[in-house]
Amino acid sequence: MNVRFRLNGKEVQAEVPVRTTLVDCIRHQLRQTGTHVGCEHGVCGACTVIVNGAAVRSCLMLAVQADGATVTTVEGLSDESKLSPLQAAFRKHHALQCGFCTPGMLTTAHALLSEEPDADKARIREVLSGNLCRCTGYIPIVEAVYEARSAYRK
Ligand code: FES
Ligand code: FES
Repeated sequence: MNVRFRLNGKEVQAEVPVRTTLVDCIRHQLRQTGTHVGCEHGVCGACTVIVNGAAVRSCLMLAVQADGATVTTVEGLSDESKLSPLQAAFRKHHALQCGFCTPGMLTTAHALLSEEPDADKARIREVLSGNLCRCTGYIPIVEAVYEARSAYRK
C-alpha cells in the first residue's frame, strides 16, 4: 500500500506491505534511523515517536495507520544547527551513556512537556516508566527533563 504522512515537517510517502510497522517504514523506507528498535513488542520504549502529538510505540503501530498523520522522530526535535533545550539538558546532566534509549526518552519527554510543562518529578518518572535504560540509573534523565520544563512554558 502507499502511505503518506508528514514526517518531521516534510510530506513523505512510501510503498509498504500492509504488515510493515511504522518504525520499519521510518527507518528502512524513509531512512530516518534516529528511532531505535529494541524489543519489537512494546516493552522498551526505544522506538517511541510522536504521532499527532501523542507518544507512540512505533513497533506496535502499522505504517498504514499513520496515513495522513503528523509524525515526529528524534530528528525532528531540533533544527540542524543546535540542540533543543531538552537535548541540551540531557547533555548537561549526562542523561545518556550508550544512547540507545535516548531517542525514545527524548520523544516521550517532549510529548509530556508539550502537554504538561509543569510536570513534577513524580509525573516525569511515571511517564518515563515505560522507557527502559540499561545504563544511567534514570536519575540524570529525570533531572534533565525537569530542567527542560521552562523551555516548554508559553
Ligand atoms: S522496540 Fe518498540 S517498545 Fe521496544
Ligand atoms: S543510555 Fe544506554 S540504554 Fe539508556
